[in-house]
Amino acid sequence: MSRNRLLVKNAKQVVLICNNGEKYLTRHGMNGLCVIENGSIVIGSDGLIKAVGPAETIRAQYSDASFERVIDAADMCVLPGLVDAHTHPVWAGDRVHEFAMKLAGASYMDVHRAGGGIHFTVEHTRAAAASDLLASLRSRLVRMQRAGTTLVECKSGYGLELHTEVKMLEVLEEARRSLPINISSTYCGAHAVPRGKTVTEATEDVLRVQLPHLKELMSAGKLRVDNIDVFCEQGVFDLDSTRSILQAGKDMGLNINFHGDELHPMKSAEMGAELGALAISHLEEITDAGIVAMAKAKTAAVLLPTTAYILRLPQPRTRDLLDSGVIVALGSDFNPNAYCCSMPIVMHLACVNMRMTMSEALAAATINAAFALGRSHTHGSLEVNKHGDLLLLSATRWEHLIYQLGGHQELIRYVVIKGNVV
Ligand code: NIG
Ligand code: FE
Repeated sequence: MSRNRLLVKNAKQVVLICNNGEKYLTRHGMNGLCVIENGSIVIGSDGLIKAVGPAETIRAQYSDASFERVIDAADMCVLPGLVDAHTHPVWAGDRVHEFAMKLAGASYMDVHRAGGGIHFTVEHTRAAAASDLLASLRSRLVRMQRAGTTLVECKSGYGLELHTEVKMLEVLEEARRSLPINISSTYCGAHAVPRGKTVTEATEDVLRVQLPHLKELMSAGKLRVDNIDVFCEQGVFDLDSTRSILQAGKDMGLNINFHGDELHPMKSAEMGAELGALAISHLEEITDAGIVAMAKAKTAAVLLPTTAYILRLPQPRTRDLLDSGVIVALGSDFNPNAYCCSMPIVMHLACVNMRMTMSEALAAATINAAFALGRSHTHGSLEVNKHGDLLLLSATRWEHLIYQLGGHQELIRYVVIKGNVV
């Protein structure tokens, strides 16, 4: 019989998040996280969690000799690996020059309309070799991993035409095969209307050219795509085009997970809930009816504190969302506009600027983010049979992960994916 992969023993705290097979948590559960004081966790030879509990219980059942590796965590806390529910990590051409423009008062849409923003990145990404995109993606994913992310949603969307969108998705597929971090990949061919095209033409291209081709690649087993995304916004994709693209993606078996109600109230939340979306991101401009619809449909709200911060947007109505029973998740929104790879910083901003409690922020960055990606049966909490993805913090209380702003390399002592220290 092969040996168990990893024992982490005697940790000051083991934060399970939940322990009843919950697929998500709403406000009450988010504020009552399941924590074991002085606990241990066992990862089996298959990389899945085999046991977790008080240190003395685990000690009575498992001898150190039955493990490939034992970590004595007497001065550490154990948490689930973090889940980043929204990123755009495949691109060439940073936008450091636009940061100065925005600081000087230009809005996100001012820059976009002037041909910058997404258009700038599209131009550079179209011209980039797949090998260069892969190299930069790898280093970004490694940075995320060092900051504690073990499952990340990654979008295409800087091609806006078939060839480049497929190139981006193939690069993601290669990263999925070659790196330990778990990837949920999203087709976002409707991220902007390409220059020189109308919304109708762009929508037709997605519906008649891009999606059918993706479907062929997916059925042939050449590409795995998990989610479909559209940027539903004034001056980008309107509600009707968004709806038709999302429905077509759903018909192909993709999870609906899209950008909505960010800069203007678009009724994205109402429409997404009606289509059975798994998640909608941003939502700074959500309406009361949108909140009710999302709570009822169990559509997760993926809040992105870095974007509201960098663009100086009004904050989303986080307390209203939580009080109404919406499933709230968090994402870094890593992209050339919001250059942040760190979920601990995202959780810190969520607490200070969006008024979440630390427990809510951690649940939003673990079980609820996993739910937003359709992965909460395998990820997002430390429960038996889930993936052995965890963080070990050099701290006596888990809250240090959120309390400390930056410099997390010192704090996060080990990142473990499927029982392997990465
Ligand atoms: O989520 N809002 C649309 N998409 C991204 C930004 C992408 C970009 O500016 O390159 C977002 O913030
Ligand atoms: Fe985004």
